Amino acid sequence: MGGDAFKKIKIFDTTLRDGEQSPGASMNIDEKLNLARQLARLGVDVIEAGFPIASEGDFEAVSAIAQEIKGIEIAGLARANEKDIYRAYSAVKNAEKPVIHTFIATSDVHLKYKLKMTREELYERAVNMVKYAKSFIENIEFSAEDASRSDLDFLCKVIKGVIDAGATAVNIPDTVGYATPFEFFNFIKSIRERVEGIENIVLSVHCHNDLGLGTANSLSAILAGANQVECTINGIGERAGNAALEEIVMALEVRKDIYNAITSVNTQELYRSSQLLTHITGISVQPNKAIVGKNAFAHEAGIHQDGVLKEKTTYEIMTPERVGRQPDELVLGKHSGKHAFKEKLNSLGYLLNDEEIEKAFVKFKNLADKKKDIYDEDIDSLVSKSHHLEKYELKYVNVVCGDTVSPLAMVKLKVDGDLKQDSSCGNGPVDAAVNAIEKIVNSKAKVIGYEVKSIRGTTEAQGNVSITIEHNGASITGRSAHTDIVTASAKAYVNALNKLYVHNKNAANKTICEIEINA
Ligand code: KIV
Ligand code: ZN
Repeated sequence: MGGDAFKKIKIFDTTLRDGEQSPGASMNIDEKLNLARQLARLGVDVIEAGFPIASEGDFEAVSAIAQEIKGIEIAGLARANEKDIYRAYSAVKNAEKPVIHTFIATSDVHLKYKLKMTREELYERAVNMVKYAKSFIENIEFSAEDASRSDLDFLCKVIKGVIDAGATAVNIPDTVGYATPFEFFNFIKSIRERVEGIENIVLSVHCHNDLGLGTANSLSAILAGANQVECTINGIGERAGNAALEEIVMALEVRKDIYNAITSVNTQELYRSSQLLTHITGISVQPNKAIVGKNAFAHEAGIHQDGVLKEKTTYEIMTPERVGRQPDELVLGKHSGKHAFKEKLNSLGYLLNDEEIEKAFVKFKNLADKKKDIYDEDIDSLVSKSHHLEKYELKYVNVVCGDTVSPLAMVKLKVDGDLKQDSSCGNGPVDAAVNAIEKIVNSKAKVIGYEVKSIRGTTEAQGNVSITIEHNGASITGRSAHTDIVTASAKAYVNALNKLYVHNKNAANKTICEIEINA
């Protein structure tokens, strides 16, 4: 262990912005707020809550998070133009610690083909827009998009210019995940050595994972002098995603001897944050994913099991408890009372008011009548639902199926409060139910993904269903869980249709039409 005092690394979470740019990861405002509350419990330093100019929905979500989440910096993203910056300012202004995060690309390939600007014009724009942002609030982060493929001399000139203009943080993104760890170390080191005044501001990195190097590059940058990393829960994000927050935090924690650094993250909240995101988006993590994957702490080989039983540290570099995975999970059942239920909700991170607890408890009792053991995942699926009034509500689904009849589904749906019903056959009971719903809604969306998983591997388990639909280029995932998988599927489809409805409403309200979100 090094003798020096540990260096504090700021964790800038961008799950709600870059993460939400993952196909199928769009979240409604309730879901974003829920996740933001969990990020606050996790102890991140900055929450990038969204891109306020992108849509009315994004603006509302960033404003709501800024209003509610205290003690943490809340950032809104803006391209380097006055309209974006003013919109971002308007969304974050009520935060206790507001941040405007403005960006523009500095690489020649972006300048020539995308921005059609000269280096001089770019320099002027970056400096002027940081000054403009600074006229509203103190904390301004500037990102040089595609920094890792930019000319180093020019990049250093831009960084110096924006620092002089008042930037309090400068971010060096590896936007396309092209850098390699040794190269990125030298790159960050050179920037630190060359730019006067950089030691007085936050030096951030933002590494994408196209070559699977997002975490490695972020850690190299820390060794080279970066003191903030931008990352997402489960590593979600554009294309192959961003550096995974849980991996960076645990690498710093487990290898303090190498990094000499600390974060303010409560590592025991890592697993819960990962689970909550999976529940909200319906995007599961791969079983072998570091820290949060199902198998991350499972020892399969006999020789490993033998070693771990004799002495854990033979094959375990950290305990599952350290990242918040509970080996002795408290399982609820039909005899569990409200007190135990409330305790469980608290331990899972749900802070509900009395009315919400009451409603959730009724659902819990109904479920407990159908299945003996109620696990954490069951509780999550009961509680992490939207509290908004939805456009569509499934009232009833009844399917006739079997090996000698063609499947026929009858459904009743409430659409804006009016009861509608229809029936349809299909290629199996789930298809029939989806077709019957579609006959009522006429969304014209195409189902492009369907996944069903048993919450626990027994036949009485709830089926967790995710359905991804596609409409006008947007892909949206709906999810639901139920002991009956046809019902779970119908509900997941209705959930996707509700999200699509909100998405379309937001798209219609876009304040600019040619939004081009670059990584
Ligand atoms: O990847 C990137 O360059 C970004 C910037 C907007 C920070 O997401
Ligand atoms: Zn990015």
